[in-house]
Amino acid sequence: MIDLRSDTMTKPTPAMLAAMAAAEVGDEQEREDPTTNELQRRVAELLGHEAALFFPTATMANQAALRVLSSPGCKVVAEERTHILIYEWGGPAIHSGLVMQGLAAEAGRPTPEQIEELDEFQTGSVLVLENTHRSSGGCIWPLDEFGAVVGAARSRGAAVHLDGARLFNASVAAGLPVTAWTKLADTVTICFSKGLGCPFGAILAGSPAMIERAWEGKFLFGGALRQSGVAAAAMLYALDHHVERLAEDHARAKRLAEGIGLDPATVETNFVAIPEEPGLIDRLLERGVAVSDLRPGRLRAVTHLDIGDAEIDQAIDRMQEVLSVHA
Ligand SMILES: Cc1ncc(COP(=O)(O)O)c(C=O)c1O
Repeated sequence: MIDLRSDTMTKPTPAMLAAMAAAEVGDEQEREDPTTNELQRRVAELLGHEAALFFPTATMANQAALRVLSSPGCKVVAEERTHILIYEWGGPAIHSGLVMQGLAAEAGRPTPEQIEELDEFQTGSVLVLENTHRSSGGCIWPLDEFGAVVGAARSRGAAVHLDGARLFNASVAAGLPVTAWTKLADTVTICFSKGLGCPFGAILAGSPAMIERAWEGKFLFGGALRQSGVAAAAMLYALDHHVERLAEDHARAKRLAEGIGLDPATVETNFVAIPEEPGLIDRLLERGVAVSDLRPGRLRAVTHLDIGDAEIDQAIDRMQEVLSVHA
């Protein structure tokens, strides 16, 4: 099976497993896990924030961030198909008592004007920006647009959270350091179980005071682990070995798009958005290619660590047999 459903499908490599097996560990709840502490120190520096905290999942990191940045009864505003608004089971309302408002926006990018026009958006509210933006097909926020919308939120007194689950994809594709975006946000989530190839793990970065309060959320949500260094070792390994190679995933995604008759220029990172046809997922599955839903009218094929050139060649051949886009 050529599994292009998501970049979460990766299995840890033998070298990553060896790093996990060799990890020096301690009790994370006592803040005594040396590998987790090293990961947090290193990622805080990398993201240009003063502090960072390990989380088992990016969902938990996002929810802990909202809990820190917001006040109950206030709003979380984001593009209408962001992960935080529609794939986290109402978490902002349940955990933080927030009113959830989605904005329709091209390529997942609300404009400053949309932020200026919001009702009831003030101190205690949060703007969430997702980079890359999943549902638009891995689109990257251009820096100037990102800065302008952050400025609009700040002028309303609201905080800004960056869901950078796939921020390294944006950074590698745009040729910009992650700090270009991270420095503008109050808090940042990075996920390590997507393109970076870890079995689990995420990081939340922010100010020391915010990260201290995020500890409470982590405990509350049941995410404070014991020997978390096993995961942190995989994450440190990924930082050393799996960041630059994201460019290969991006190149393969473009090649896949071209091979099935789509415009490669529409592929910004590792997602190929395929026009949906009735029964297409099943017909592709019968030929050994797994894709999944992206948004209404579009399926997604996502390249990742476990997809090499040979798999892309095979996927193109098999997809051409069933897709009408190339005709
Ligand atoms: C943009 C975005 N944010 C957050 C998450 C949540 O990640 P996790 O599965 O680690 O909770 C995902 C997962 O697909 C995602 O795509």
